[in-house]
Amino acid sequence: MTEPLNTMPENEQPVLNISGLSTVYNLKIGQVKSVTDVSFELARGEILGLVGESGSGKSVTGLSIAGLITAPGRVVSGSVLLHGQELTTLSENALRAIRGNDISIIFQDPMTTLNPVLTIGQQFFEVIHAHRKCSYSQAMKEAETALIEVGIPAPRERLDNYPHELSGGMRQRVCIAISLINKPSVVIADEPTTALDVTIQSQILHMMQRLVRERDVAMIWVTHDLSVVAGFCDKLAVMYAGRIVEAGPVQQVLSNPAHPYTAGLMDSIPGDCLPGSRLEQIPGTQPSPLQLPSGCAFRTRCKYARNECAEKPPEVAVGSGRTAQCFFPLTEVQNVRRK
Ligand SMILES: Nc1ncnc2c1ncn2[C@@H]1O[C@H](COP(=O)(O)OP(=O)(O)O)[C@@H](O)[C@H]1O
Ligand SMILES: [Mg+2]
Repeated sequence: MTEPLNTMPENEQPVLNISGLSTVYNLKIGQVKSVTDVSFELARGEILGLVGESGSGKSVTGLSIAGLITAPGRVVSGSVLLHGQELTTLSENALRAIRGNDISIIFQDPMTTLNPVLTIGQQFFEVIHAHRKCSYSQAMKEAETALIEVGIPAPRERLDNYPHELSGGMRQRVCIAISLINKPSVVIADEPTTALDVTIQSQILHMMQRLVRERDVAMIWVTHDLSVVAGFCDKLAVMYAGRIVEAGPVQQVLSNPAHPYTAGLMDSIPGDCLPGSRLEQIPGTQPSPLQLPSGCAFRTRCKYARNECAEKPPEVAVGSGRTAQCFFPLTEVQNVRRK
C-alpha cells in the first residue's frame, strides 16, 4: 500500500484520508482496473489537483470516494476516511445522508446534477430539505445568498428559472452554489469548467478558490488540463492508468517533475512552447485498462524506460512530501535539459 501524501502542518488531522483505494469494473470481456492503490490526504482548506489523461481513473476515484460506484463496478480494497469515519463499508442509506451534505460532488455537465423540470429554487429546497429541517421561504433566503456568492446577478429572479433558461456558465455556478449549500467538508469537482469558455473557466476557478479558502473546505479538483492547476491547487496527484504516479506540493512538482509522465504532460502544454518551435507529445496512447503492461504501465511510452521497468516500480520520496512511482525519477539536471 502506498503511503499517503502529507503536506499538512503537523497536528492537523486530515479531513479526508484515502489509502490503498482500488476499484474495478467486471465486464464480460474482462476486468477493467480503473483505480489501483490510490492514497492521499486532504486537510481543511486544501485543494488537490487530480490530473491525468482521459481514462486515467480520475472520475472513478471521485465516484469511489463519494460511494457512487455501481455494478458492474466495485471498490475492491482500500479505505476512505472522512473525519476518521470509514465510508467504504457504510450502507447506501448512511451514504446518502453524507452525500450532498458533508461530501458533495460537482460534475462536468451541470445537467447531471440539475433536474430539468424543477426551478432553481425548487432544486435548492430539495437539497437543503434532504438533510435538515427548513421552511421553503428560509431555503429561498439561503439560496439567494448562495447565488450572490457564486456571482449570479438578480438571484431572486433566477430562483424562478428552469435550468434551460440559464447559460452553461450560469448553470455550473448554480451547481457550485448547490454543492456548497449544506456546508460540506469535502467537495469533489470533476472537470466542472472543461465545457466552458476559457474566460468563464478562469472566473469560476478564482471564485471556487476563494469559496474553498473562506469556508475551509477540502477540495479535489479533477482535470485533464495540467495548466489549470498551477496557480489554483496546493498539491497535485498525477494519475496514469489508474495509479497515482507522482504527488506533491504543486509548485515543486511542476518546477521539477520526477515522473517522466508528469514531464511529458508538462511538455505538451502549448502555452509553454516558443513560437515556431515544435510542441512535444507523449508518443503512443494509454494502454487498455483490460491489459495493462506489467510493472510500470507508462513504460511502453517512456523514453527513459529500461528493463527494470517491467517490474512494479517502487514509490520513492523525491523531496519533502513528494513521491513518485518510478525506478528512474528525473533528476534536476535532466529537467534542466528538458527545458
Ligand atoms: N461504468 C464503467 N464501466 C466500465 N468501465 C468504466 C466505467 N467507468 C469508467 N470505466 C473505465 O475506467 C477507466 C477510468 O475511467 P475514468 O475514471 O472515467 O477516467 P477519467 O475520468 O480519468 O477520464 C477507463 O478505462 C474507463 O473506461
Ligand atoms: Mg472523467
